Amino acid sequence: MSFLESYDHLVDFSQKSLFISAFAIAFNPTFWNIVARREYRTKFITKFFGSAQAGCYALAITIFSLGLLRDFLYERALRDQPSHPLLEGELPTYAGYALLALGNLFVISSTWQLGITGTFLGDYFGILMDDMVTGFPFNVTNAPMYYGSTMSFLGTALIYGKPAGVFLTGVVLAVYLVAIQFENPFTAAIYAKRASAQKSKGGNKGSVRDKKEL
Ligand SMILES: *[C@@H]1O[C@H](CO)[C@@H](O)[C@H](O)[C@H]1NC(C)=O
Repeated sequence: MSFLESYDHLVDFSQKSLFISAFAIAFNPTFWNIVARREYRTKFITKFFGSAQAGCYALAITIFSLGLLRDFLYERALRDQPSHPLLEGELPTYAGYALLALGNLFVISSTWQLGITGTFLGDYFGILMDDMVTGFPFNVTNAPMYYGSTMSFLGTALIYGKPAGVFLTGVVLAVYLVAIQFENPFTAAIYAKRASAQKSKGGNKGSVRDKKEL
């Protein structure tokens, strides 16, 4: 029996909903990275909405809505999947709720710390944070948004008792790790550019350390 065949008892790869969910998971960060970089280069969203602030809020609403759709498709996919007895006991269920709570705590507290524009790619619009955010949850992890979201996916998988959810959580983590590789150097470069611009102006007040990584 091949590995995939044995895995097939855990995850039903014949379900279209599984691939739709995986696609939605991969699509979202791809979408916002392409759109945000284009905004950085051409300011096309700022021009369309008349201001960077309005443009960033519009992008924030779009990304948030895509996130809700992705979560909906994930739950739909799990419903089409087999459960596994090992994941159906009380322990995995409690662990699932704990992960969901911790994941949401990370996501909500980092949004609280960064604000809407800080959370949703404001730096690509030229809306930069004054200071690096160092408080919770950024003192625990450098990417609380992404790791919090990953924990929520895993928590949901455990609550449903579905190995397919664990598989899709792996897809989420892989996608986010790639996104971090793309976003962090770019964000660092945006802030470095401001720092050197401020230096050449002679004003070192408010000079930028680095921003958090989202
Ligand atoms: C992070 O900050 C919070 C709130 O200030 C604090 O309670 C917590 O102990 C800190 N954690 C670490 C790992 O430093």
